[in-house]
Amino acid sequence: MLIARTVAELRQHLSAFKQPAFVPTMGNLHEGHLNLLRIAKVSGDVCVASIFVNRLQFLPTEDFASYPRTFDSDCDKLRSVGCDVLFAPDETELYPQPQTFKVLPDPALADILEGQYRPGFFTGVCTVVLKLFHCVFAHSGGVAVFGQKDFQQLLILRRMMTQLAMPVDIITGETTRAPDGLALSSRNGYLSTDERAEAVQLSMALKALAASVRAASGPGRFDVAAAESAAMDSLRARGWVPDYITLRRQHDLSTVTAMGSEPLVVLGAARLGKTRLIDNLVV
Ligand code: PAF
Repeated sequence: MLIARTVAELRQHLSAFKQPAFVPTMGNLHEGHLNLLRIAKVSGDVCVASIFVNRLQFLPTEDFASYPRTFDSDCDKLRSVGCDVLFAPDETELYPQPQTFKVLPDPALADILEGQYRPGFFTGVCTVVLKLFHCVFAHSGGVAVFGQKDFQQLLILRRMMTQLAMPVDIITGETTRAPDGLALSSRNGYLSTDERAEAVQLSMALKALAASVRAASGPGRFDVAAAESAAMDSLRARGWVPDYITLRRQHDLSTVTAMGSEPLVVLGAARLGKTRLIDNLVV
């Protein structure tokens, strides 16, 4: 596996390929990332990963400084799935000047849910993803693989690809879960043993909400707001601090007041102790 530390090195190496398949990450890789890389491996003529902990997508109160940096074991994992190229720039390489030019995503998508609780998060994500794409896809189009666990991120990035006419197809990988159902996340490592046992309750609350949505028949017969509140109350009763548990339309994350035939998704974010977890389930 070639490890490129600079944009020039990466571009020079990738100039020999027509269809890079790329998985951007912030490192501390787990099986969820590796599943995305397995998809990338069969989706292009060169499999590329990046590791870059992107300061722009963290609030000053968040865990940028303590975000787990596990470069050597990440490299072993990348080699184990046949990754061909790792782009691992340091901050001064990717942001040689203060990054004052930024991507401003549509507030209707980016200022709700995660964006409401993490203001500026999607500006940071879109800016770094656009920049990474300019580095990886400098000579060609290609594909990029993102996980469905970050449902809102995926939707916003797809919208960015379309509106900025980027020659990159986004493909997705299903959320990878631990045997008990907890969605894999680098932040699961922050959980204590007791919290780890409890953590599955977020996906269980979403599952229960999704099941009640599926069981509801006909417009007006299902009180969405009451079901969302009940799901949040059930977590609160177990010591969680939920930010949101909500039923939305898959296509634009707008709220749902009556059941129709559109594809829906339940999304949730909640804090357990010091750890904030997110998850979603398509209905
Ligand atoms: O999903 C992530 O890990 C990050 O938001 C991404 C896409 C690598 C951008 O920093």
